[in-house]
Amino acid sequence: MRYTLKQIHCRPWTLSYLSAKLIESHYENNYGGALRRLNAITAQLESLDFEKTPPHVLNGLKREELVALNSTLLHELYFASMGGDGQPTKAMIEVLARDFGSLDRWRAEFRAMGYALGGGSGWVVLAYVPRDGRLINQYAAEHSQAISSGVPILALDMYEHAYHMDFGANAKAYVDTFLRNVDWPALGQRYEDAAKVSGPRPLEQPEFGDIQGVGVEEVKAMMAGGQKVQVIDVRPRAAALRGQDIAEGAQWRDPEQLQQWIGELSKSEPVVVYCAYGFHVGCKTAIKLREAGFDAKYMNSGHSGWKAIGYPLKMNP
Ligand SMILES: [Fe+2]
Repeated sequence: MRYTLKQIHCRPWTLSYLSAKLIESHYENNYGGALRRLNAITAQLESLDFEKTPPHVLNGLKREELVALNSTLLHELYFASMGGDGQPTKAMIEVLARDFGSLDRWRAEFRAMGYALGGGSGWVVLAYVPRDGRLINQYAAEHSQAISSGVPILALDMYEHAYHMDFGANAKAYVDTFLRNVDWPALGQRYEDAAKVSGPRPLEQPEFGDIQGVGVEEVKAMMAGGQKVQVIDVRPRAAALRGQDIAEGAQWRDPEQLQQWIGELSKSEPVVVYCAYGFHVGCKTAIKLREAGFDAKYMNSGHSGWKAIGYPLKMNP
């Protein structure tokens, strides 16, 4: 068996207003059931000759594997989410305030999401997204729908088997009871572990030294904020033909002719240059401008980045 059973991560008799009978049934039938199913599916997949397996058989097994695997992971997290006194720690209050505005705002959304699944089914998950370095509340229907690269740190099971025995159809009372049982110190530890996961590495361009690129949103904000900034499109002549679109507020200048237009620029205002995608031409031009004494940066996603985010364009005259 590839997957082994994990101990129940809370002491059922210590939970308030959740019966040990409910928790035991949940662990034995639903968590245990998912694990048994997962091992059976895994064994079946291992026995397949993929050359001869019909697509519908493989599709079905891989779908069921995903559902069962995620069900075991989410159930383990669910049991580990409870067993505390429901009192948020200072550190987690600060983290939730950073990402949601306030603890109350986070709780209002999480609780409302749980309420909204009453009579339906699915999970409410608090997950850390390494790319963004922040937390988000998400639904996970069908035990799946995980955020790619997300690290779940709190899970609320909203399938009826999680509460019907104690609460009948009163899903709201169950959600409130779950929140009163959250083990916040353990949640804080899981957050700390999750926050150590780094996001995707930025593209490295060692040939350009340590020059810093600036994001397209930041450039737009500089322009919108009334800051005097000189934005120069330095795509090679072939890429920036007359009549083609160019960022509103920018001017096109031929990167090959830098010495002819450098005199137009002011040294007292920052300069942002960009090329097609934010690689060589933009970086090289920014470096040359810095060497000439300008406060120059390059926009790191270039003309395509400006278009991808939907900022306004004009025709290159
Ligand atoms: Fe469950």
